[in-house]
Amino acid sequence: MAIDTIFKLAQEYNIECGLKRSKAYFYAVKPEDIVRLEKEFITCEHAGIDVNYIEAAPLPFKTYGSICYNNQGQFNPRQYLLTLAKSIPDSNGSAIYENSVALEIKEVKKNGNSDKNYEVITDKGVIRAKKVIVATHFPFPYKGLFFAKMKVCRSYVLGIRIADELPEELFYSSTDPYYYIRTHQDSKGKLVIVGGEDHVTAEERNTLECYQSIKKFAENHFNVQSIDYSWSTQDNYTFDELPYIGKVSKDNPNLYVATGFNGSGMIYGTLSGVIIADLIEGNNDYSYYQDFYDPSRLNILDTGKDLFSRNLHVAEMYVGDRLSSMNKVNSLDKIAAGSGSIAHINGKDLAVYRDDDNKIYALSPVCRHLGCRLRYNEAERSWDCPCHGSRYGVDGNILHGPALKTLEKYKI
Ligand SMILES: Cc1cc2nc3c(=O)[nH]c(=O)nc-3n(C[C@H](O)[C@H](O)[C@H](O)COP(=O)(O)OP(=O)(O)OC[C@H]3O[C@@H](n4cnc5c(N)ncnc54)[C@H](O)[C@@H]3O)c2cc1C
Ligand code: FES
Repeated sequence: MAIDTIFKLAQEYNIECGLKRSKAYFYAVKPEDIVRLEKEFITCEHAGIDVNYIEAAPLPFKTYGSICYNNQGQFNPRQYLLTLAKSIPDSNGSAIYENSVALEIKEVKKNGNSDKNYEVITDKGVIRAKKVIVATHFPFPYKGLFFAKMKVCRSYVLGIRIADELPEELFYSSTDPYYYIRTHQDSKGKLVIVGGEDHVTAEERNTLECYQSIKKFAENHFNVQSIDYSWSTQDNYTFDELPYIGKVSKDNPNLYVATGFNGSGMIYGTLSGVIIADLIEGNNDYSYYQDFYDPSRLNILDTGKDLFSRNLHVAEMYVGDRLSSMNKVNSLDKIAAGSGSIAHINGKDLAVYRDDDNKIYALSPVCRHLGCRLRYNEAERSWDCPCHGSRYGVDGNILHGPALKTLEKYKI
């Protein structure tokens, strides 16, 4: 339904975004993985998903069988969204405000009306609304307790040119962690996007090594001519692997949320638009989906163990990282140019970065969201919070929420 909606909108608004139907292949990299693929294939068939099983994925290297998911889609989401966004400002009062950070959502009651209205306090002004949708990736309000119900995973991507023939389809390996491969056309021709090495932000990983592993994977499987791009990013994962779409809670019937897309945000983002519009208009066309993705659901039997261990881990990071002397230096001399570390200086722990010109930036190492201890991300040169994915630049400015305040700066 979500893919069909994207095709319908692209046609209606005449959007040129390279949208096309494609196939997605989940392929086995070793004979032992075939059993897992076969089980998944049978489950897909039972669920009515359009799949077939083939002996090998159409890749320029050996695979041991593959599930082929038909009728998937591929597009340039930025081009798609830019055109859609142009259609939003209209004479009925619809508008897009950019570069405005929402800091708080206040409930206000008017004229004794028990139905709540809201004021969204931003750094540029106040927006009043009867209904508010929080679609800020990780929700920044504490309502709904999403910080206790999701984990954040990072993924690493290279954009490479190869000498091999590669069909314009989507590919996922059976390895753990898995790798994904897809293509994109740019002004220089075909760019192959190879990604993977996904990990929960809480895991202490050398982020440079994640890129190196993908490079090794690419070089082992393709004739790589050049590596033109590299980047990493993150998504929110729920414990039952379904997103949270709908009313934040029964107490806040006019406050909606769309989050926890589990790496499938093109689909779930589109579905969120359909479901939340249905809820706001009081229709019941998609009531099945409304119940299914209800943000206040909590199936302890299915998710309790993961949920408990994840929150225990967050608690460990909150307390343990403060006490640990590991990964902490006690002299600025131990921080090389172009790198950062937690440093214990003058009786205080600081997040210290030394730039390529030897200028020192000293910040509080405490995340402004809920106070977890930050870790230095070597590949991106940023301070990342392992708990709920907030990220800060080496100057302390926010790169990614849910944090809303910049880091405290210190002179040393
Ligand atoms: C490597 C990688 C590959 C992926 N590949 C796919 C794929 O092939 N197919 C697929 O379907 N999905 C894919 N996903 C998942 C998808 O990209 C995400 O799920 C999706 O982009 C999340 O959308 P979002 O609207 O929730 O968040 P975002 O796209 O992050 O949008 C949130 C917006 O809110 C703004 N914001 C945040 N806080 C505030 C605030 N306080 N005030 C005002 N504005 C705020 C942000 O600036 C941002 O513009 C992938 C994800 C990753 C990491
Ligand atoms: S993101 Fe929640 S404590 Fe840092």
